[in-house]
Amino acid sequence: MINQTTKSKEVLVPLRKETETNIGQVIEVRGDKVLVELWADPTKPLIEDYYPGQPGSYLKIPFQGHSIICIASSIKLGHQSIGGEMKKIVECMLVGTLKPDNKFVRGVAIYPTVGLIAQMVTDDELNKIFAEYRHFDFSFASLAENERQRVPVNINNLFAHHLAIVGNTGSGKSCAVASILQKVIKKYPNTHIIVFDLHGEYAAAFPKDVSIIEADKVELPHWLLSFDEFIDLNVDLTELTAKNQITVIRDAMLRARQGTDSDQNLGLGASLTVDSPVFYNVEDMINLIRNWNIQMVYNDEGKLVPGPLHGVFDRFLIRFDSRMQDPRYKFIFRPENYSSDSSLIELLKNHLSLNNGKRMTVIDLSGIPSETIGVVVAVISRVVFEFNLWNTERDKLPILMVYEEAHNLIPRQANLGFPSAHKAVERITKEGRKYGIGAIFVSQRPNELSETVISQCNNFIAMRLTNPEDQEYVRKLVPDSAQGLLAMAPSLRTGEALLLGDAVVMPTRVLIDLPCPQPKSSDIEFAQGWTETSKEIDIERVVKRWRTRRRDL
Ligand SMILES: Nc1ncnc2c1ncn2[C@@H]1O[C@H](COP(=O)(O)OP(=O)(O)OP(=O)(O)O)[C@@H](O)[C@H]1O
Ligand SMILES: [Mg+2]
Repeated sequence: MINQTTKSKEVLVPLRKETETNIGQVIEVRGDKVLVELWADPTKPLIEDYYPGQPGSYLKIPFQGHSIICIASSIKLGHQSIGGEMKKIVECMLVGTLKPDNKFVRGVAIYPTVGLIAQMVTDDELNKIFAEYRHFDFSFASLAENERQRVPVNINNLFAHHLAIVGNTGSGKSCAVASILQKVIKKYPNTHIIVFDLHGEYAAAFPKDVSIIEADKVELPHWLLSFDEFIDLNVDLTELTAKNQITVIRDAMLRARQGTDSDQNLGLGASLTVDSPVFYNVEDMINLIRNWNIQMVYNDEGKLVPGPLHGVFDRFLIRFDSRMQDPRYKFIFRPENYSSDSSLIELLKNHLSLNNGKRMTVIDLSGIPSETIGVVVAVISRVVFEFNLWNTERDKLPILMVYEEAHNLIPRQANLGFPSAHKAVERITKEGRKYGIGAIFVSQRPNELSETVISQCNNFIAMRLTNPEDQEYVRKLVPDSAQGLLAMAPSLRTGEALLLGDAVVMPTRVLIDLPCPQPKSSDIEFAQGWTETSKEIDIERVVKRWRTRRRDL
Protein backbone atom coordinates (compact mmCIF):
# COMPACT_ATOMS: atom_id res chain seq x y z
CA MET A 1 0.00 0.00 0.00
CA ILE A 2 1.22 3.42 -0.84
CA ASN A 3 0.05 6.73 0.59
CA GLN A 4 -2.35 8.69 -1.46
CA THR A 5 -0.75 12.12 -0.84
CA THR A 6 2.84 13.30 -0.70
CA LYS A 7 4.47 16.28 0.84
CA SER A 8 5.48 17.72 -2.54
CA LYS A 9 2.80 20.03 -3.99
CA GLU A 10 4.05 19.59 -7.57
CA VAL A 11 2.99 15.99 -7.61
CA LEU A 12 -0.62 16.11 -8.66
CA VAL A 13 -1.13 12.42 -9.09
CA PRO A 14 -1.99 10.56 -5.98
CA LEU A 15 0.53 7.96 -5.13
CA ARG A 16 -0.11 4.48 -6.18
CA LYS A 17 -2.67 2.80 -4.07
CA GLU A 18 -3.44 -0.81 -4.78
CA THR A 19 -6.52 -1.88 -2.98
CA GLU A 20 -8.98 -4.48 -4.05
CA THR A 21 -10.73 -2.12 -6.46
CA ASN A 22 -8.22 0.62 -7.34
CA ILE A 23 -6.77 -0.36 -10.64
CA GLY A 24 -5.07 2.73 -12.00
CA GLN A 25 -5.16 6.46 -12.45
CA VAL A 26 -6.30 8.93 -15.08
CA ILE A 27 -3.37 10.36 -17.04
CA GLU A 28 -5.18 12.09 -19.88
CA VAL A 29 -8.69 13.38 -20.58
CA ARG A 30 -9.62 14.15 -24.19
CA GLY A 31 -13.27 14.86 -25.01
CA ASP A 32 -15.16 11.74 -24.10
CA LYS A 33 -12.02 9.61 -23.96
CA VAL A 34 -9.74 9.11 -20.98
CA LEU A 35 -6.44 7.32 -20.74
CA VAL A 36 -5.87 5.34 -17.58
CA GLU A 37 -2.49 4.10 -16.51
CA LEU A 38 -3.15 0.63 -15.22
CA TRP A 39 -1.54 -0.44 -11.99
CA ALA A 40 -3.24 -3.75 -11.70
CA ASP A 41 -2.02 -6.80 -13.61
CA PRO A 42 -4.29 -7.19 -16.67
CA THR A 43 -3.45 -10.88 -16.93
CA LYS A 44 -4.88 -11.75 -13.51
CA PRO A 45 -8.56 -11.52 -12.68
CA LEU A 46 -9.35 -9.24 -9.73
CA ILE A 47 -12.47 -11.20 -8.99
CA GLU A 48 -13.71 -14.17 -10.95
CA ASP A 49 -13.68 -13.01 -14.55
CA TYR A 50 -12.90 -9.27 -14.15
CA TYR A 51 -9.56 -8.73 -15.88
CA PRO A 52 -8.55 -5.11 -15.33
CA GLY A 53 -8.39 -3.03 -18.48
CA GLN A 54 -9.86 -5.70 -20.72
CA PRO A 55 -11.63 -4.10 -23.70
CA GLY A 56 -15.34 -4.05 -22.99
CA SER A 57 -14.90 -4.01 -19.19
CA TYR A 58 -16.12 -1.15 -17.03
CA LEU A 59 -14.10 1.21 -14.83
CA LYS A 60 -15.27 3.96 -12.54
CA ILE A 61 -13.62 7.22 -11.64
CA PRO A 62 -14.93 8.60 -8.36
CA PHE A 63 -15.04 12.39 -8.37
CA GLN A 64 -16.98 14.91 -6.29
CA GLY A 65 -19.28 12.29 -4.87
CA HIS A 66 -20.16 10.93 -8.33
CA SER A 67 -18.79 7.85 -10.02
CA ILE A 68 -17.97 8.52 -13.64
CA ILE A 69 -18.43 5.23 -15.50
CA CYS A 70 -16.32 4.37 -18.51
CA ILE A 71 -15.81 1.37 -20.71
CA ALA A 72 -12.37 0.20 -21.80
CA SER A 73 -11.97 0.21 -25.59
CA SER A 74 -8.28 -0.67 -25.96
CA ILE A 75 -5.14 -1.38 -23.96
CA LYS A 76 -1.49 -0.99 -24.90
CA LEU A 77 2.01 -0.73 -23.49
CA GLY A 78 3.36 2.77 -23.98
CA HIS A 79 5.90 5.28 -22.78
CA GLN A 80 4.68 8.22 -20.78
CA SER A 81 7.91 10.11 -21.38
CA ILE A 82 10.85 9.56 -23.71
CA GLY A 83 12.96 6.81 -22.31
CA GLY A 84 10.54 6.33 -19.43
CA GLU A 85 9.38 2.92 -18.32
CA MET A 86 6.70 1.15 -20.30
CA LYS A 87 3.25 1.59 -18.86
CA LYS A 88 0.00 -0.21 -19.39
CA ILE A 89 -2.37 2.34 -20.82
CA VAL A 90 -6.08 1.73 -21.16
CA GLU A 91 -8.18 3.90 -23.47
CA CYS A 92 -11.70 4.32 -22.12
CA MET A 93 -14.90 5.94 -23.34
CA LEU A 94 -16.95 7.93 -20.84
CA VAL A 95 -20.46 6.52 -20.85
CA GLY A 96 -22.30 7.88 -17.82
CA THR A 97 -22.42 8.85 -14.19
CA LEU A 98 -23.60 6.98 -11.13
CA LYS A 99 -24.91 9.77 -8.93
CA PRO A 100 -24.74 9.87 -5.14
CA ASP A 101 -28.41 8.83 -4.98
CA ASN A 102 -27.38 5.63 -6.87
CA LYS A 103 -29.14 6.73 -10.06
CA PHE A 104 -27.29 6.20 -13.32
CA VAL A 105 -27.47 8.88 -15.98
CA ARG A 106 -26.07 8.74 -19.51
CA GLY A 107 -23.32 11.24 -20.28
CA VAL A 108 -21.02 13.04 -17.88
CA ALA A 109 -22.01 16.12 -15.95
CA ILE A 110 -18.60 16.47 -14.32
CA TYR A 111 -15.57 15.61 -16.41
CA PRO A 112 -12.82 13.62 -14.74
CA THR A 113 -9.35 15.03 -14.59
CA VAL A 114 -5.83 13.69 -14.45
CA GLY A 115 -4.70 12.11 -11.27
CA LEU A 116 -8.02 10.64 -10.30
CA ILE A 117 -8.12 7.03 -9.29
CA ALA A 118 -9.80 4.48 -11.56
CA GLN A 119 -11.54 1.60 -9.85
CA MET A 120 -13.16 -1.65 -10.71
CA VAL A 121 -16.95 -1.54 -11.04
CA THR A 122 -18.50 -3.99 -8.61
CA ASP A 123 -21.48 -6.28 -9.23
CA ASP A 124 -23.50 -4.14 -6.87
CA GLU A 125 -22.71 -1.03 -8.89
CA LEU A 126 -23.52 -2.80 -12.15
CA ASN A 127 -26.88 -3.68 -10.67
CA LYS A 128 -27.49 -0.02 -9.91
CA ILE A 129 -26.36 1.03 -13.38
CA PHE A 130 -28.61 -1.47 -15.14
CA ALA A 131 -31.55 -0.80 -12.81
CA GLU A 132 -33.17 1.77 -15.10
CA TYR A 133 -34.51 -0.71 -17.64
CA ARG A 134 -34.93 -3.64 -15.29
CA HIS A 135 -38.67 -3.08 -14.95
CA PHE A 136 -39.08 -4.12 -18.59
CA ASP A 137 -38.03 -7.56 -17.37
CA PHE A 138 -36.61 -8.29 -20.80
CA SER A 139 -33.10 -9.40 -21.62
CA PHE A 140 -31.47 -11.54 -24.28
CA ALA A 141 -27.83 -11.24 -23.26
CA SER A 142 -25.40 -11.02 -20.38
CA LEU A 143 -22.24 -9.02 -20.05
CA ALA A 144 -19.42 -10.74 -21.92
CA GLU A 145 -16.97 -10.05 -19.11
CA ASN A 146 -19.38 -10.98 -16.34
CA GLU A 147 -21.97 -13.54 -17.32
CA ARG A 148 -23.78 -13.19 -13.99
CA GLN A 149 -24.89 -9.73 -15.00
CA ARG A 150 -27.90 -9.76 -17.31
CA VAL A 151 -28.34 -6.72 -19.53
CA PRO A 152 -31.91 -5.42 -19.29
CA VAL A 153 -33.26 -3.92 -22.48
CA ASN A 154 -35.86 -1.24 -23.06
CA ILE A 155 -38.01 -3.18 -25.50
CA ASN A 156 -39.98 -0.09 -26.59
CA ASN A 157 -36.86 1.73 -27.74
CA LEU A 158 -35.35 -1.43 -29.18
CA PHE A 159 -38.18 -1.96 -31.64
CA ALA A 160 -39.80 1.46 -32.12
CA HIS A 161 -36.46 3.14 -32.80
CA HIS A 162 -35.40 0.28 -35.08
CA LEU A 163 -32.53 -2.12 -34.66
CA ALA A 164 -29.69 -3.04 -37.01
CA ILE A 165 -27.90 -6.34 -36.47
CA VAL A 166 -24.62 -6.37 -38.36
CA GLY A 167 -21.78 -8.88 -38.53
CA ASN A 168 -19.87 -11.26 -40.75
CA THR A 169 -21.42 -14.44 -42.00
CA GLY A 170 -21.49 -16.95 -39.16
CA SER A 171 -21.08 -14.30 -36.45
CA GLY A 172 -24.47 -15.21 -34.96
CA LYS A 173 -26.94 -12.70 -36.39
CA SER A 174 -29.77 -15.11 -37.17
CA CYS A 175 -29.33 -16.75 -33.79
CA ALA A 176 -29.52 -13.30 -32.18
CA VAL A 177 -32.78 -12.57 -34.01
CA ALA A 178 -34.21 -15.96 -33.03
CA SER A 179 -33.16 -15.48 -29.42
CA ILE A 180 -34.77 -12.03 -29.21
CA LEU A 181 -37.99 -13.19 -30.89
CA GLN A 182 -38.26 -16.36 -28.80
CA LYS A 183 -38.03 -14.27 -25.64
CA VAL A 184 -40.53 -11.72 -26.91
CA ILE A 185 -43.02 -14.43 -27.83
CA LYS A 186 -42.59 -16.15 -24.49
CA LYS A 187 -43.15 -12.98 -22.53
CA TYR A 188 -45.88 -11.21 -24.51
CA PRO A 189 -49.09 -13.01 -25.45
CA ASN A 190 -50.17 -10.60 -28.18
CA THR A 191 -47.17 -10.07 -30.45
CA HIS A 192 -47.37 -9.24 -34.15
CA ILE A 193 -44.15 -9.96 -35.96
CA ILE A 194 -43.45 -10.45 -39.66
CA VAL A 195 -40.13 -12.02 -40.65
CA PHE A 196 -38.81 -11.95 -44.21
CA ASP A 197 -36.81 -15.15 -44.12
CA LEU A 198 -34.53 -15.38 -47.14
CA HIS A 199 -33.03 -18.77 -46.39
CA GLY A 200 -35.92 -20.64 -44.81
CA GLU A 201 -34.12 -20.71 -41.43
CA TYR A 202 -36.63 -19.50 -38.91
CA ALA A 203 -39.40 -22.09 -38.99
CA ALA A 204 -37.17 -24.47 -37.05
CA ALA A 205 -36.71 -21.99 -34.21
CA PHE A 206 -40.45 -21.50 -33.57
CA PRO A 207 -42.16 -24.86 -33.70
CA LYS A 208 -45.63 -23.89 -32.54
CA ASP A 209 -46.25 -20.16 -32.15
CA VAL A 210 -45.71 -19.16 -35.68
CA SER A 211 -47.60 -19.24 -38.92
CA ILE A 212 -45.17 -20.10 -41.63
CA ILE A 213 -46.02 -18.97 -45.11
CA GLU A 214 -43.91 -21.38 -47.09
CA ALA A 215 -42.18 -20.34 -50.24
CA ASP A 216 -44.67 -22.11 -52.51
CA LYS A 217 -47.64 -20.76 -50.53
CA VAL A 218 -46.67 -17.08 -50.63
CA GLU A 219 -49.37 -15.22 -52.53
CA LEU A 220 -49.54 -11.53 -53.19
CA PRO A 221 -52.32 -10.98 -55.70
CA HIS A 222 -51.80 -8.37 -58.41
CA TRP A 223 -54.78 -6.38 -57.16
CA LEU A 224 -53.00 -5.70 -53.87
CA LEU A 225 -50.17 -4.00 -55.70
CA SER A 226 -50.34 -0.23 -55.71
CA PHE A 227 -50.13 1.54 -59.02
CA ASP A 228 -46.40 2.32 -58.54
CA GLU A 229 -45.64 -1.28 -57.61
CA PHE A 230 -47.44 -2.53 -60.70
CA ILE A 231 -45.48 -0.09 -62.87
CA ASP A 232 -42.13 -1.00 -61.24
CA LEU A 233 -42.84 -4.62 -61.99
CA ASN A 234 -44.20 -4.37 -65.50
CA VAL A 235 -43.09 -1.22 -67.26
CA ASP A 236 -39.61 -0.83 -68.67
CA LEU A 237 -38.83 2.81 -67.92
CA THR A 238 -36.12 2.93 -70.58
CA GLU A 239 -38.69 2.44 -73.35
CA LEU A 240 -39.47 5.61 -75.27
CA THR A 241 -43.21 5.07 -74.80
CA ALA A 242 -42.92 4.43 -71.03
CA LYS A 243 -44.56 7.74 -70.02
CA ASN A 244 -47.47 7.09 -72.34
CA GLN A 245 -47.85 3.56 -71.00
CA ILE A 246 -47.91 4.77 -67.41
CA THR A 247 -50.67 7.30 -68.09
CA VAL A 248 -52.81 4.75 -69.88
CA ILE A 249 -52.29 1.98 -67.31
CA ARG A 250 -53.33 4.39 -64.57
CA ASP A 251 -56.56 5.01 -66.42
CA ALA A 252 -57.16 1.32 -67.10
CA MET A 253 -56.41 0.27 -63.54
CA LEU A 254 -58.70 2.90 -62.05
CA ARG A 255 -61.51 1.80 -64.35
CA ALA A 256 -60.91 -1.84 -63.39
CA ARG A 257 -61.11 -1.10 -59.67
CA GLN A 258 -64.16 1.10 -60.18
CA GLY A 259 -65.76 -1.84 -61.96
CA THR A 260 -65.48 -3.97 -58.80
CA ASP A 261 -66.75 -1.09 -56.70
CA SER A 262 -69.96 -0.85 -58.69
CA ASP A 263 -70.38 -4.61 -59.37
CA GLN A 264 -70.03 -5.50 -55.71
CA ASN A 265 -71.69 -2.42 -54.27
CA LEU A 266 -68.67 -1.49 -52.18
CA GLY A 267 -69.89 2.11 -52.10
CA LEU A 268 -66.44 3.63 -52.41
CA GLY A 269 -67.33 6.03 -55.22
CA ALA A 270 -65.05 9.05 -55.40
CA SER A 271 -62.86 7.86 -52.51
CA LEU A 272 -61.59 4.97 -54.63
CA THR A 273 -58.13 5.58 -56.06
CA VAL A 274 -55.80 3.69 -58.35
CA ASP A 275 -54.00 2.43 -55.20
CA SER A 276 -57.07 1.27 -53.25
CA PRO A 277 -56.81 -2.37 -52.14
CA VAL A 278 -59.79 -3.42 -54.23
CA PHE A 279 -59.89 -6.56 -56.37
CA TYR A 280 -59.91 -6.30 -60.15
CA ASN A 281 -59.61 -8.80 -62.94
CA VAL A 282 -56.17 -8.27 -64.44
CA GLU A 283 -57.02 -10.01 -67.70
CA ASP A 284 -59.94 -7.65 -68.30
CA MET A 285 -57.64 -4.71 -67.69
CA ILE A 286 -54.97 -6.04 -70.05
CA ASN A 287 -57.58 -6.79 -72.72
CA LEU A 288 -58.65 -3.16 -72.59
CA ILE A 289 -55.02 -2.13 -73.13
CA ARG A 290 -54.66 -4.76 -75.86
CA ASN A 291 -57.60 -3.24 -77.71
CA TRP A 292 -56.21 0.28 -77.43
CA ASN A 293 -52.89 -1.04 -78.71
CA ILE A 294 -54.43 -2.24 -81.98
CA GLN A 295 -57.18 0.33 -82.26
CA MET A 296 -57.71 1.93 -85.68
CA VAL A 297 -59.55 5.25 -85.95
CA TYR A 298 -60.96 7.30 -88.77
CA ASN A 299 -59.10 10.50 -89.53
CA ASP A 300 -60.61 13.76 -90.78
CA GLU A 301 -60.54 12.44 -94.28
CA GLY A 302 -62.56 9.39 -93.27
CA LYS A 303 -59.62 7.06 -93.67
CA LEU A 304 -58.90 4.26 -91.18
CA VAL A 305 -55.54 5.02 -89.53
CA PRO A 306 -53.71 3.67 -86.41
CA GLY A 307 -55.16 5.16 -83.20
CA PRO A 308 -53.18 7.32 -80.74
CA LEU A 309 -52.07 4.29 -78.69
CA HIS A 310 -51.42 2.02 -81.61
CA GLY A 311 -48.27 -0.01 -80.96
CA VAL A 312 -47.42 1.84 -77.73
CA PHE A 313 -47.85 -1.34 -75.73
CA ASP A 314 -46.23 -3.81 -78.13
CA ARG A 315 -43.29 -4.64 -75.87
CA PHE A 316 -45.26 -4.22 -72.66
CA LEU A 317 -47.79 -6.82 -73.82
CA ILE A 318 -45.13 -9.33 -74.85
CA ARG A 319 -43.47 -8.93 -71.45
CA PHE A 320 -46.74 -9.08 -69.58
CA ASP A 321 -48.02 -12.15 -71.44
CA SER A 322 -44.80 -14.03 -70.72
CA ARG A 323 -45.11 -13.10 -67.01
CA MET A 324 -48.67 -14.41 -66.96
CA GLN A 325 -47.41 -17.75 -68.25
CA ASP A 326 -44.30 -17.82 -66.05
CA PRO A 327 -44.86 -20.10 -63.03
CA ARG A 328 -42.49 -17.90 -61.00
CA TYR A 329 -45.05 -15.08 -61.18
CA LYS A 330 -48.02 -17.29 -60.44
CA PHE A 331 -48.14 -16.02 -56.85
CA ILE A 332 -48.94 -12.54 -58.18
CA PHE A 333 -50.96 -13.04 -61.34
CA ARG A 334 -52.71 -16.35 -60.74
CA PRO A 335 -53.42 -16.46 -56.99
CA GLU A 336 -55.32 -19.48 -55.68
CA ASN A 337 -56.36 -18.23 -52.26
CA TYR A 338 -56.70 -14.50 -52.59
CA SER A 339 -58.62 -14.20 -55.80
CA SER A 340 -61.67 -12.22 -54.76
CA ASP A 341 -62.30 -8.95 -53.04
CA SER A 342 -63.42 -10.58 -49.80
CA SER A 343 -60.08 -12.41 -49.49
CA LEU A 344 -58.32 -9.21 -48.38
CA ILE A 345 -59.45 -9.75 -44.79
CA GLU A 346 -58.10 -13.31 -44.78
CA LEU A 347 -54.81 -12.15 -46.28
CA LEU A 348 -54.38 -9.50 -43.60
CA LYS A 349 -55.20 -12.00 -40.85
CA ASN A 350 -52.57 -14.40 -42.10
CA HIS A 351 -49.84 -11.89 -42.72
CA LEU A 352 -50.29 -9.76 -39.61
CA SER A 353 -50.93 -12.73 -37.31
CA LEU A 354 -54.33 -11.22 -36.49
CA ASN A 355 -57.07 -13.21 -34.81
CA ASN A 356 -55.47 -16.50 -35.84
CA GLY A 357 -53.88 -17.59 -32.58
CA LYS A 358 -50.38 -17.13 -33.98
CA ARG A 359 -47.95 -14.55 -32.78
CA MET A 360 -45.59 -14.28 -35.65
CA THR A 361 -45.60 -14.80 -39.41
CA VAL A 362 -42.50 -16.09 -41.12
CA ILE A 363 -42.54 -15.49 -44.86
CA ASP A 364 -40.20 -18.01 -46.39
CA LEU A 365 -38.69 -16.34 -49.43
CA SER A 366 -36.15 -19.03 -50.13
CA GLY A 367 -37.95 -20.44 -53.17
CA ILE A 368 -39.12 -17.16 -54.64
CA PRO A 369 -37.21 -15.97 -57.74
CA SER A 370 -34.80 -13.26 -56.72
CA GLU A 371 -36.29 -10.70 -59.10
CA THR A 372 -39.67 -10.92 -57.37
CA ILE A 373 -38.46 -10.82 -53.76
CA GLY A 374 -38.46 -7.03 -53.98
CA VAL A 375 -42.16 -7.06 -54.88
CA VAL A 376 -43.01 -9.20 -51.86
CA VAL A 377 -41.07 -6.95 -49.51
CA ALA A 378 -42.53 -3.80 -51.04
CA VAL A 379 -46.13 -4.92 -50.98
CA ILE A 380 -46.12 -6.45 -47.49
CA SER A 381 -44.21 -3.52 -45.97
CA ARG A 382 -46.58 -1.01 -47.53
CA VAL A 383 -49.72 -2.97 -46.67
CA VAL A 384 -48.60 -3.28 -43.04
CA PHE A 385 -47.85 0.43 -42.87
CA GLU A 386 -51.15 1.41 -44.43
CA PHE A 387 -53.07 -0.99 -42.24
CA ASN A 388 -51.83 0.70 -39.11
CA LEU A 389 -52.14 4.13 -40.68
CA TRP A 390 -55.89 3.53 -40.92
CA ASN A 391 -56.10 1.56 -37.69
CA THR A 392 -57.15 3.94 -34.93
CA GLU A 393 -56.43 1.21 -32.37
CA ARG A 394 -52.83 0.93 -33.46
CA ASP A 395 -51.67 1.33 -29.87
CA LYS A 396 -53.02 -2.21 -29.36
CA LEU A 397 -51.27 -3.48 -32.46
CA PRO A 398 -47.60 -2.61 -32.58
CA ILE A 399 -46.02 -4.61 -35.43
CA LEU A 400 -42.39 -5.63 -35.73
CA MET A 401 -40.91 -6.25 -39.17
CA VAL A 402 -37.72 -8.29 -39.51
CA TYR A 403 -35.68 -7.97 -42.70
CA GLU A 404 -33.03 -10.71 -43.03
CA GLU A 405 -30.18 -10.02 -45.44
CA ALA A 406 -31.48 -6.48 -45.66
CA HIS A 407 -28.69 -5.35 -48.00
CA ASN A 408 -30.22 -7.62 -50.66
CA LEU A 409 -33.75 -6.38 -50.07
CA ILE A 410 -33.04 -2.65 -49.81
CA PRO A 411 -29.60 -2.13 -51.32
CA ARG A 412 -27.76 1.14 -51.03
CA GLN A 413 -27.70 1.67 -54.79
CA ALA A 414 -31.36 2.28 -55.44
CA ASN A 415 -31.04 1.14 -59.07
CA LEU A 416 -30.10 -2.36 -57.88
CA GLY A 417 -33.21 -2.96 -55.86
CA PHE A 418 -36.92 -2.79 -56.44
CA PRO A 419 -37.85 0.92 -56.23
CA SER A 420 -41.14 0.32 -54.41
CA ALA A 421 -39.38 -1.77 -51.75
CA HIS A 422 -37.07 1.15 -51.01
CA LYS A 423 -40.02 3.48 -50.75
CA ALA A 424 -42.06 1.22 -48.46
CA VAL A 425 -39.23 0.24 -46.12
CA GLU A 426 -37.79 3.74 -45.92
CA ARG A 427 -41.22 5.01 -45.00
CA ILE A 428 -41.39 2.49 -42.16
CA THR A 429 -37.99 3.62 -40.85
CA LYS A 430 -38.91 7.30 -41.07
CA GLU A 431 -42.53 7.29 -39.92
CA GLY A 432 -43.14 3.78 -38.54
CA ARG A 433 -42.54 4.86 -34.96
CA LYS A 434 -45.67 7.05 -35.00
CA TYR A 435 -47.84 4.24 -36.33
CA GLY A 436 -46.52 1.46 -34.13
CA ILE A 437 -44.28 -0.24 -36.69
CA GLY A 438 -40.76 -1.12 -35.70
CA ALA A 439 -38.09 -2.90 -37.68
CA ILE A 440 -35.02 -5.10 -37.34
CA PHE A 441 -32.54 -5.04 -40.23
CA VAL A 442 -30.04 -7.87 -40.39
CA SER A 443 -27.03 -7.51 -42.64
CA GLN A 444 -23.56 -8.88 -43.20
CA ARG A 445 -22.76 -5.94 -45.50
CA PRO A 446 -24.09 -2.82 -43.74
CA ASN A 447 -22.10 -0.74 -46.20
CA GLU A 448 -24.33 -2.02 -48.99
CA LEU A 449 -27.62 -1.39 -47.19
CA SER A 450 -29.74 1.69 -47.98
CA GLU A 451 -28.27 4.64 -46.16
CA THR A 452 -31.70 6.05 -45.31
CA VAL A 453 -32.65 2.79 -43.66
CA ILE A 454 -29.55 2.20 -41.58
CA SER A 455 -29.19 5.82 -40.54
CA GLN A 456 -32.67 5.67 -39.00
CA CYS A 457 -31.67 2.79 -36.74
CA ASN A 458 -31.08 3.99 -33.21
CA ASN A 459 -29.91 0.64 -31.92
CA PHE A 460 -27.13 -1.62 -33.07
CA ILE A 461 -26.10 -5.14 -32.31
CA ALA A 462 -22.62 -5.14 -33.83
CA MET A 463 -21.26 -8.67 -34.00
CA ARG A 464 -17.91 -9.82 -35.39
CA LEU A 465 -17.24 -7.53 -38.33
CA THR A 466 -13.91 -7.80 -40.09
CA ASN A 467 -14.40 -5.82 -43.29
CA PRO A 468 -12.79 -2.39 -42.69
CA GLU A 469 -15.27 -0.59 -44.96
CA ASP A 470 -18.21 -1.97 -43.03
CA GLN A 471 -16.59 -1.18 -39.68
CA GLU A 472 -15.90 2.37 -40.75
CA TYR A 473 -19.43 2.75 -42.01
CA VAL A 474 -21.01 1.49 -38.79
CA ARG A 475 -18.62 3.64 -36.74
CA LYS A 476 -20.01 6.76 -38.41
CA LEU A 477 -23.55 5.76 -37.53
CA VAL A 478 -23.24 4.96 -33.84
CA PRO A 479 -23.13 7.57 -31.07
CA ASP A 480 -19.73 9.20 -30.46
CA SER A 481 -19.34 7.58 -27.07
CA ALA A 482 -19.55 4.11 -28.66
CA GLN A 483 -17.28 4.66 -31.65
CA GLY A 484 -14.07 3.60 -29.93
CA LEU A 485 -15.71 0.32 -28.98
CA LEU A 486 -16.09 -0.75 -32.58
CA ALA A 487 -12.36 -1.37 -32.66
CA MET A 488 -13.33 -4.59 -30.87
CA ALA A 489 -15.68 -5.70 -33.65
CA PRO A 490 -13.19 -7.84 -35.61
CA SER A 491 -12.24 -9.93 -32.60
CA LEU A 492 -15.64 -10.68 -31.11
CA ARG A 493 -16.49 -14.33 -30.53
CA THR A 494 -19.44 -15.99 -32.24
CA GLY A 495 -22.55 -14.84 -30.38
CA GLU A 496 -20.72 -11.93 -28.81
CA ALA A 497 -21.82 -8.41 -29.69
CA LEU A 498 -21.57 -4.75 -28.92
CA LEU A 499 -24.97 -3.50 -27.86
CA LEU A 500 -25.27 0.18 -28.69
CA GLY A 501 -28.13 2.66 -28.67
CA ASP A 502 -31.00 3.92 -26.59
CA ALA A 503 -32.39 0.47 -25.70
CA VAL A 504 -29.54 -0.14 -23.25
CA VAL A 505 -28.45 2.15 -20.46
CA MET A 506 -24.91 2.27 -21.80
CA PRO A 507 -22.83 0.61 -24.53
CA THR A 508 -22.06 -2.95 -23.55
CA ARG A 509 -20.12 -5.92 -24.83
CA VAL A 510 -22.50 -8.83 -24.41
CA LEU A 511 -22.86 -12.52 -25.03
CA ILE A 512 -26.22 -13.18 -26.64
CA ASP A 513 -28.16 -16.17 -25.36
CA LEU A 514 -28.15 -19.09 -27.74
CA PRO A 515 -31.72 -19.61 -28.95
CA CYS A 516 -33.46 -22.87 -28.19
CA PRO A 517 -34.29 -24.39 -30.60
CA GLN A 518 -31.87 -22.79 -33.03
CA PRO A 519 -32.75 -21.57 -36.51
CA LYS A 520 -31.73 -23.91 -39.28
CA SER A 521 -28.66 -21.90 -40.07
CA SER A 522 -25.78 -24.04 -38.94
CA ASP A 523 -22.95 -24.84 -41.32
CA ILE A 524 -23.10 -27.97 -43.44
CA GLU A 525 -20.33 -30.18 -42.13
CA PHE A 526 -18.02 -31.13 -44.97
CA ALA A 527 -16.14 -33.73 -42.98
CA GLN A 528 -19.34 -35.48 -41.94
CA GLY A 529 -21.04 -35.15 -45.33
CA TRP A 530 -18.02 -36.53 -47.13
CA THR A 531 -17.62 -39.41 -44.72
CA GLU A 532 -21.00 -41.05 -45.17
CA THR A 533 -20.81 -43.40 -48.10
CA SER A 534 -23.84 -45.55 -47.48
CA LYS A 535 -26.57 -43.31 -48.88
CA GLU A 536 -27.10 -42.63 -52.55
CA ILE A 537 -28.43 -39.24 -53.47
CA ASP A 538 -31.91 -39.37 -54.99
CA ILE A 539 -31.07 -37.21 -57.98
CA GLU A 540 -34.45 -37.67 -59.64
CA ARG A 541 -36.19 -36.33 -56.59
CA VAL A 542 -33.96 -33.26 -56.47
CA VAL A 543 -34.62 -32.59 -60.13
CA LYS A 544 -38.39 -32.99 -59.59
CA ARG A 545 -38.38 -30.53 -56.71
CA TRP A 546 -36.23 -28.14 -58.69
CA ARG A 547 -38.53 -28.28 -61.71
CA THR A 548 -41.75 -27.96 -59.74
CA ARG A 549 -40.22 -25.52 -57.23
CA ARG A 550 -41.71 -27.60 -54.41
CA ARG A 551 -39.67 -28.77 -51.48
CA ASP A 552 -42.29 -31.07 -50.01
CA LEU A 553 -41.98 -33.65 -52.80
N1 LIG B 1 -24.95 -16.77 -29.02
C1 LIG B 1 -24.29 -17.81 -29.53
N2 LIG B 1 -23.56 -18.60 -28.74
C2 LIG B 1 -22.88 -19.65 -29.26
N3 LIG B 1 -22.91 -20.01 -30.56
C3 LIG B 1 -23.61 -19.27 -31.40
C4 LIG B 1 -24.33 -18.12 -30.94
N4 LIG B 1 -24.95 -17.57 -31.99
C5 LIG B 1 -24.62 -18.32 -33.06
N5 LIG B 1 -23.83 -19.34 -32.71
C6 LIG B 1 -23.31 -20.39 -33.63
O1 LIG B 1 -22.90 -19.79 -34.86
C7 LIG B 1 -23.55 -20.42 -35.96
C8 LIG B 1 -23.90 -19.38 -37.01
O2 LIG B 1 -24.84 -18.49 -36.47
P1 LIG B 1 -25.87 -17.69 -37.38
O3 LIG B 1 -26.50 -18.55 -38.38
O4 LIG B 1 -26.76 -16.94 -36.46
O5 LIG B 1 -24.88 -16.70 -38.15
P2 LIG B 1 -25.26 -15.49 -39.11
O6 LIG B 1 -24.49 -14.30 -38.63
O7 LIG B 1 -26.72 -15.33 -39.22
O8 LIG B 1 -24.66 -15.95 -40.50
P3 LIG B 1 -25.16 -15.56 -41.99
O9 LIG B 1 -24.80 -14.12 -42.21
O10 LIG B 1 -24.37 -16.46 -42.88
O11 LIG B 1 -26.62 -15.80 -42.04
C9 LIG B 1 -24.78 -21.11 -35.38
O12 LIG B 1 -25.04 -22.30 -36.05
C10 LIG B 1 -24.44 -21.36 -33.94
O13 LIG B 1 -23.99 -22.66 -33.75
MG1 LIG C 1 -28.07 -15.51 -40.82
